[in-house]
Amino acid sequence: MNKHRIPVIAGNWKMYKTRDEALQFIYAVNQEMPSRDEVETVICANDVLLRDLVKRQGESLKIGAQNMHFAENGAFTGETSPLVLETTGVAYVIIGHSERRAMFNETDETVNLKVHSAIKHDLTPIVCVGESLEIREAGTTNEVVKNQIIKAYANLNDKDALSTIVAYEPIWAIGTGKTATPEQAEETIKAIRDVLASLYGEVASKIRILYGGSVNAKNIDALLAKENIDGALVGGASLDVSSYLTLVKAALNK
Ligand code: PGA
Repeated sequence: MNKHRIPVIAGNWKMYKTRDEALQFIYAVNQEMPSRDEVETVICANDVLLRDLVKRQGESLKIGAQNMHFAENGAFTGETSPLVLETTGVAYVIIGHSERRAMFNETDETVNLKVHSAIKHDLTPIVCVGESLEIREAGTTNEVVKNQIIKAYANLNDKDALSTIVAYEPIWAIGTGKTATPEQAEETIKAIRDVLASLYGEVASKIRILYGGSVNAKNIDALLAKENIDGALVGGASLDVSSYLTLVKAALNK
């Protein structure tokens, strides 16, 4: 294990699972979770379920949200305030997932505002970046992703940067069954660490950077074998108990 970086396995349930299904999952995995100084395990679920899930979380597994507004309150119909999220007891929040960027008009600027707001409310932001297939094919992936990082981290100090987690998720790999090769993932994640180092120096070696995009029980070992890949943000393969447990066990060997 890298001395500085505890691996993270974060499930992103998106808009899946009923309340009963979600609670059954939490009961089933709770006993199997390693301690948090070995692996940080997280499930990011639908807002409506968060309070119930937090009540049932064990010592190790923590619950996260999938989005929040940057403002504490206002005329933003249908949005979730970070103040309210805080009261549910969640510990994490995904910020800037590509589905939100593509379908709900999130921009690098709103991502930055949300990162600041999440930290202010003691929520660990899981900051998502990643390129489209066109960008990958044009050969400008690292440039585009670095730029997303610079904008997401604007005006964030060292201490706050350290409390963030980055998730590199190539858009073409999300929900498609097409994973980036471990080499492709490592190359871009290394570029992300380099840009964080240009902003934060030594602190960058302590920031966890996850890979996301069709991660499953079969490909997790090869991804985690890479030096800079500190865990995974997982959609489809986090919905099933045994597959989630396999991912967590793989991270124990990191
Ligand atoms: P996937 O989703 O694992 O189903 O590709 C990942 C994500 O969207 O975070």
